[in-house]
Amino acid sequence: MKHIETKLTLLGREHSEHFGCGFPSVSPPVHRASTLLFPNLEAFDQGEQGTYSLPTYGRFGNPTQWALENALCELNNADKVFLFSSGLSAITNSLLGLLEQGAHALISDSVYGPTRKFCDYELKRYGVEITYYDPRIGANIKDLFRPNTKLVYLESPGSLTFEVQDISAIAQAAHDIGAVVVSDDTWGTPLFLQPHEHGIDVSIQAVTKYISGHSDLLMGAVSVKNTAAEQIMERLVRHTGDCVTADNCYLALRGLRTLAVRMQHHQKTALEVAHWLQNRPEVLRVLHPAMDSHPDHQLWQKHFTGASGVFSVEIKPCSKNALAAMLDHLELLGLGFSWGGFESLIIPFRPALLRTATSWAKDSLALRLNIGLEHADDLIADLEAGFRRMKNVG
Ligand SMILES: Cc1ncc(COP(=O)(O)O)c(C=O)c1O
Repeated sequence: MKHIETKLTLLGREHSEHFGCGFPSVSPPVHRASTLLFPNLEAFDQGEQGTYSLPTYGRFGNPTQWALENALCELNNADKVFLFSSGLSAITNSLLGLLEQGAHALISDSVYGPTRKFCDYELKRYGVEITYYDPRIGANIKDLFRPNTKLVYLESPGSLTFEVQDISAIAQAAHDIGAVVVSDDTWGTPLFLQPHEHGIDVSIQAVTKYISGHSDLLMGAVSVKNTAAEQIMERLVRHTGDCVTADNCYLALRGLRTLAVRMQHHQKTALEVAHWLQNRPEVLRVLHPAMDSHPDHQLWQKHFTGASGVFSVEIKPCSKNALAAMLDHLELLGLGFSWGGFESLIIPFRPALLRTATSWAKDSLALRLNIGLEHADDLIADLEAGFRRMKNVG
């Protein structure tokens, strides 16, 4: 069995032999297509009956897309991967497909904000019951099960507050009652987390982040290792009409080639910056699961083989002017959502505003950092100058 670094250079390339015109390009070509032609009426009729062996319309995929799907499938050791137009679309389509009116879903309190909004504003409208649970609940999640609990949703670590979940314990408990386990595994990437090995049935990646790696496309992937869930997703994706472009699949495949080297750099630099921040007087605590000061460090070791470059710090309360003095003039860390790209980013947030099942101090203020591919010394110098400006404002 080859190492993942080697697989990243090989996967998704067989397609140029299978679908090309004999031109031996290293990378697959971009197949832009909406309309696909049938050779005759017989084939057309088969297309209408669903028995035709080729796709019948551009929405149902193209060889560039299959190359990416196959690569991600093999990286995760999954049965099937479905691609969506954004990470959020991958999440919402999975929840739509796997839940139904009258079902109950358990959702981690630390999930990505828009996932929570979809549950609160859309799923509830369709008669789905939602309960948020403490991400650190572990096997005790069983105490929250109801006769109609159909789905347990995780995000480990939570991408703002970085609680690590006991994935395997939660998955085991959910499987005991026949519930499907869905997880947003964007932070770990297939390099550092093998979700299906720990019992995740449906694993979501915002390809937008580390897999594409260059902050220039939006895409989501749903990786499935569960026959019933696969059949549901296969049907749903045809009915909802969400799809990806061949150009974006090409770019994502190109990003995938360098995933391993980028992740090693993100990991190393983020840890250097995190250790520096830990000793700053402005910082109350660093929320980075790969540091042994993190309360879930052992759980992180149990499930992950590495850490990406995203973490948070809780800082001492300060005025809005002081925060602005720091953030408005950073040279390298841009003020922007998202993460996983080559450029460093930072955002402020207030954890207490995002929670219902776990409590955070009301005035707690935190910064989330996405550490890019810059040199750690330059990022530290940028942050140090920011803290100096903050202090001057008071
Ligand atoms: C943890 C997590 N999951 C999913 C998403 C959604 O990805 P996209 O922006 O591609 O919709 C994000 C975006 O920031 C995220 O942070």
